[in-house]
Amino acid sequence: MTKVKDERSERLRQYMDECREKEHSESQLIAILHKAQEIYGYLPREVMDEIAHYMNIPTAHIWGVATFYHYFNLEPVGKYIVSVCMGTACYVKGAGKVLETLKKELGVEVGQTTEDKMFTLQEARCLGACGLAPVIMVNEKIHGDLDAERTAELIKEYRNRGG
Ligand code: FES
Repeated sequence: MTKVKDERSERLRQYMDECREKEHSESQLIAILHKAQEIYGYLPREVMDEIAHYMNIPTAHIWGVATFYHYFNLEPVGKYIVSVCMGTACYVKGAGKVLETLKKELGVEVGQTTEDKMFTLQEARCLGACGLAPVIMVNEKIHGDLDAERTAELIKEYRNRGG
C-alpha cells in the first residue's frame, strides 16, 4: 500500500469514527460515501469493502446505495466531469447538438472517461439554470447559451488548463 493510499484511508477512517458515534442511518452512510468519493474521486470496490468492514454493514447494502444514487461514481473519473443537461428546456434549445459535439471533441460516449483522464462525459437532468439553456456543468461550474462552436471552444479552454 502506498503512502498516499494510507493517508486517504486514514482520512476516511477518521470520518467514519466521527459518524460511528452517531446513530446509524442511511443518510449517515450516504455522507460516508460522499466523503470517500471526495477523497478518492470515485468509489473503488476495495474502499466500499473497507467501509463495510469498518461500519459493520454488508458490502451488498453499500453497493446498492452507491448504485442507486447517480452522483456516485463507481469508475475512475477525469479531472473535469462534464455533465450535459438533457432536461426539457435544454433539450428543446439544442442540447442534442451540444452532446454530439462533446462526444466528437472528447472521443468518448456518455459515461466514459478520456484516455488522458482529463474528462468524463455525463448526462444530467435539469441543472437548475434553464434560463441559460442549453447548459453544461464542468465540475461545479455552469456554462450556458451553448452551441456546437462554443462547446468546442470551451473544451479547448479546459484542455489548455492542463491535467
Ligand atoms: S433543463 Fe437544463 S438547466 Fe433546466
